Amino acid sequence: MSSLLVDNIGELVTNDPPGGEDGPLGIWRDAALLVEDGQVAWVGPAREAPAADRRVDAEGAAVLPGFVDSHAHLVFAGDRAAEFAARMAGQPYTGGGIRTTVGATRAASDDELRATVRRLRGEAMRQGTTTMEIKSGYGLTVADEARSLAIAAEVSEETTFLGAHVVPAEYADRPDDYVSLVCGPMLAAAAPHARWIDVFCERGAFDADHARAILACGQAVGLGARVHANQLGPGPGVQLGVELGAASVDHCTHLTDADVDALASAGETWVSGFVPTTVATLLPGAEFSTRSPYPDARRLLDAGVTVALATDCNPGSSYTSSMPFCVALAVREMGMTPAEAVWAATAGGARALRRDDVGVLRRGARADLMILDAPSHLHLAYRPGVPLIRQVLHNGVPR
Ligand code: NIG
Ligand code: FE
Repeated sequence: MSSLLVDNIGELVTNDPPGGEDGPLGIWRDAALLVEDGQVAWVGPAREAPAADRRVDAEGAAVLPGFVDSHAHLVFAGDRAAEFAARMAGQPYTGGGIRTTVGATRAASDDELRATVRRLRGEAMRQGTTTMEIKSGYGLTVADEARSLAIAAEVSEETTFLGAHVVPAEYADRPDDYVSLVCGPMLAAAAPHARWIDVFCERGAFDADHARAILACGQAVGLGARVHANQLGPGPGVQLGVELGAASVDHCTHLTDADVDALASAGETWVSGFVPTTVATLLPGAEFSTRSPYPDARRLLDAGVTVALATDCNPGSSYTSSMPFCVALAVREMGMTPAEAVWAATAGGARALRRDDVGVLRRGARADLMILDAPSHLHLAYRPGVPLIRQVLHNGVPR
């Protein structure tokens, strides 16, 4: 068993408060971290560091858990740059462009889709993302959803069946039949490749009754629920997600007090162990790219809701794979402190995926971490747009 010591860490963010200084990030100064067998084997003061076969010198920089991006749509073909340009010239975002990407995705070969998924997964890794959820949702036939998930599963264990992204054009006048397809043969073909089921619960996509039926049939075959909720306007998605025990409700841009109350009472905030709750996952790349008002993270945090940040990487509403960009937006535009945003992008994402082995650096966790080209986590928001990720370790292996 070979060991690797990451030494000379100026600031180590563990997200493990019991071992370190006060605060949600569990920060240690002048620290070291030992990796064995792809896991964190020891964390502590550099002067007490154990011997190891190999050593990485962090040179006084900050080390953080790798980002956990809990919401991304990487399986698609083509892009929608012209749609983006039209939006920046004043057009609203309605989600109508999803069907454009569905057409391009259906026409693409497996290898074309695979190349895009791998390109974007690599791009994200270089920006510190060590866990990345990947959704289907641009195939919308039995065969295209199944192959989308099979390709996603080649690069991630966090795969999500989103056959209920929109009603495809060929079912436009019979949405009930499409819901039956999603719950029947499409789910059967998708489930072997998926851990989660998601639905776009929004005006113009799926209403509460359809969304409830789809999530329930996924749960019945063992998939966990997540919801695209309250993105374009107020709606039933958030409360439906809480009602069904979804791991996460995502977007949360337009919330009523009742939505916030439902999230706040959905579970306890994590204190000393892992307590499943419904996380509010905020996706500021979508508001940036659709020129929409940002969700109010401060309101959710003050109500005691667990908040995650994710990219929503997709060719329509948010074509970014950059978690540092989302952290910077959350701090500048959504009322989060840098510490809250970093926690939400790491430990928060892990909560949204119901994982306790990632988003944290403690003994037994996966050795997923990044060394910054900066002395502190603050620099992720303080130096926006700058490539600050010097090195990434995934499963203890330098990438
Ligand atoms: O999360 N809102 C639904 N789905 C994606 C957008 C997909 C698209 O526009 O292609 C989202 O923003
Ligand atoms: Fe999305």
